[in-house]
Amino acid sequence: MANPIALQVKDLKTYFYNDQRCNKAVNGVSFEIEKGKTLCIVGESGCGKSVTASTIMQLLPTLSRIEEGEINYFAGDGENAPAIRIDQLERNGAEMRRIRGSEIAMIFQDPMTALNPAYTIGFQIGETLQYHTSLGKKEIRQKTIQLLADMGIPLPERRVDEYPHQYSGGMRQRAMIAMAMACQPKILIADEPTTALDVTIQAQIFELMDDLKKSNNTAILLITHDMGVVAELADSVAVMYMGNIVEAGTVEEVLGQPRHPYTRALLQSIPVLGKGRNQRIAAIRGSTPDAYDRPVGCQFEPRCDFASPDCSSMPDEQNLSDTHRLRCWHPQRDSGSE
Ligand SMILES: Nc1ncnc2c1ncn2[C@@H]1O[C@H](COP(=O)(O)OP(=O)(O)O)[C@@H](O)[C@H]1O
Ligand SMILES: [Mg+2]
Repeated sequence: MANPIALQVKDLKTYFYNDQRCNKAVNGVSFEIEKGKTLCIVGESGCGKSVTASTIMQLLPTLSRIEEGEINYFAGDGENAPAIRIDQLERNGAEMRRIRGSEIAMIFQDPMTALNPAYTIGFQIGETLQYHTSLGKKEIRQKTIQLLADMGIPLPERRVDEYPHQYSGGMRQRAMIAMAMACQPKILIADEPTTALDVTIQAQIFELMDDLKKSNNTAILLITHDMGVVAELADSVAVMYMGNIVEAGTVEEVLGQPRHPYTRALLQSIPVLGKGRNQRIAAIRGSTPDAYDRPVGCQFEPRCDFASPDCSSMPDEQNLSDTHRLRCWHPQRDSGSE
């Protein structure tokens, strides 16, 4: 039986405005994450993954606006009604501030989004623990050191009293992850949390996230480029392209029976070591269109080998199973197109 829902996003649209021009960065995204499950969002750079995450956190970049949609956060255990409901008319800022960092936490792509340069790492993690737990001063310090040790930070007893600028980039990232996990959130959003970290530490951090999911029933939204990570950690997968989810389903459905030409190309591409996360996906010809001048129909049409005149209108979403969703005029099968 399905678990209760932790986070529900319905037809979310977040647009950027610049000199009368509009970038439909997130253009009608819907998904749900059950308690104790991990949803991975994958897709090329610029497709709207981070904007989706910051919209859910209600930490929107300047010049952007939620145009439409609804976000429901079900924070407590076994409740049916959402703890907070946000639609484009009502932002619910005060409520959101209360749950941010306790019920819902985010690991950002850039650690300095979350860390304050003026305070020691220990103080910042301790502050989170103090605010959200009933631990005493001494226990907080012990717990903070333990969290840093868990993240593979060397000499945590000494490092705890250092400032962010005394940490390397990778260590800052780990300190931020420690802070996000400190209060055992019910919803954890992790935006490419381990880029810049070496594989051993990556594996360690993913294991800690998985532990949190199991012990605390945390729902995890994990944004990643790494299909290996998806295969290992995801319960379900959503593939994004230019602001839309083009295919979504269980990890078995999306990785095992991909039906969208884009998903298939994504799975064929092998990342090149050392090229970083902005590398273009080798198996797909062309590049993503100008975000301020998008195709009117299927966004993938200009790059798709199976494009036909149908593709100049946006395909509706179709359900291939209870969990497998697809937005494409030409679903693929292993034996060729339908
Ligand atoms: N702060 C910002 N100001 C203006 N445009 C932005 C900003 N952040 C993202 N965008 C635009 O929104 C779209 C989605 O970006 P983003 O969500 O960051 O992609 P990614 O999938 O790589 O995380 C892109 O077209 C990007 O240029
Ligand atoms: Mg991003």
